Amino acid sequence: MSKPEQRLDDRYRTDEKYTTLRGIHAQARRQLSEIDWNYLNCGTGDEVTREENTSVFDRIRFDTPLFAGISNPDTRTNLLGHDLSFPALIAPFGGEAVFHPDGHCAIGRAAEAAGIKQMVPAASSFHLEEVAQASGVAKIFQMTFVGDPEGVLQMIGRARAAGYTHVCATYSPIRQWRERMMEDRFSPRGEKGPSNFGPGLSDPANLVELLDFAEPRWGWKQAADVIARSPLPCIVKGVQSVADAQAALDAGAVALYVSNYGGRSIDRTLTTLEILPHIRAAVGAEVPIIFDSGVRRGSDIATAIALGANAVALGRLVAFGLAADGEYGVRRTLELVKREFWTTLGHLGCSSVADLSPRIFSRSP
Ligand SMILES: Cc1cc2nc3c(=O)[nH]c(=O)nc-3n(C[C@H](O)[C@H](O)[C@H](O)COP(=O)(O)O)c2cc1C
Repeated sequence: MSKPEQRLDDRYRTDEKYTTLRGIHAQARRQLSEIDWNYLNCGTGDEVTREENTSVFDRIRFDTPLFAGISNPDTRTNLLGHDLSFPALIAPFGGEAVFHPDGHCAIGRAAEAAGIKQMVPAASSFHLEEVAQASGVAKIFQMTFVGDPEGVLQMIGRARAAGYTHVCATYSPIRQWRERMMEDRFSPRGEKGPSNFGPGLSDPANLVELLDFAEPRWGWKQAADVIARSPLPCIVKGVQSVADAQAALDAGAVALYVSNYGGRSIDRTLTTLEILPHIRAAVGAEVPIIFDSGVRRGSDIATAIALGANAVALGRLVAFGLAADGEYGVRRTLELVKREFWTTLGHLGCSSVADLSPRIFSRSP
């Protein structure tokens, strides 16, 4: 029998290279140049929204009644007909070869090992077919409703042919005011800044994300027409109000994706965590809601689920893992965040994801 203090030590013993998400973050910082680090982290304007996206999670407080805790919580859930080992997905982030040359191909393999779903953006460094072939994980294709609707439908057809299960549509008509990237003269084509932006940029469809403005203008009517004709069911991303949630459902969306793009689109919007409960109350219990912007640890996942999300998308958190150590870095990130989510459920006395409700808070945002 080992002494009690040795047993305590053993609880944290592991052969893994990274023992915490903090360690992965530090390694990502060491791996990336200043310019690439800024691309990953930057927001728009004064970055008020980017900052508040994470600090809003710091303001919530959990209520942990004595003897409430349990030892074997179940982290599994189902989203849009797919089983997830915990309520998370990979957020769609583009230009990812800057962080690691294997980009979304590596991320897909790590997501498959973790038992979650992957969202792949049109702005990926890889063709959507390449990412599809790299792993067997279920995938959602993210693209922008911009330009010619027939071109958009063709692209969705391509994603369907490659095996994607859903399309996730955003609207992002003009370039964002990202001062860190402006100061760095960041160029995805590599005149200055990262040179390895990957093969995907030779794909004209992928360039859509980078255009300054594209005609014709889109509105809910055009979106509804395309959603009705889309060969894949559509999730609408960028929902930040009750009015938009309703409009997206009226337009035929099968799920809502509440997101302010991590504060990378426009500064001084509300945090998504503040808006989420209002959207959930307005649309009712049945509409699937994906949430992102600011999720950095397992307890943040519990918070977002308790306030109305069905699953969260992990953006920068996964990018840190990718930058730190490619596929292994992402796999380890997902293991750690899942484990911390499991621990949070246990301490809060929630035996399953469905048990998460505002009851877990002594203070919410
Ligand atoms: C480097 C980077 C690139 C991104 N590219 C895209 C993109 O191409 N399409 C998109 O819908 N969202 C994009 N996003 C936003 C993410 O999908 C997600 O909404 C955001 O990262 C959530 O905020 P968080 O990472 O702070 O949690 C990008 C985010 C980052 C960090």
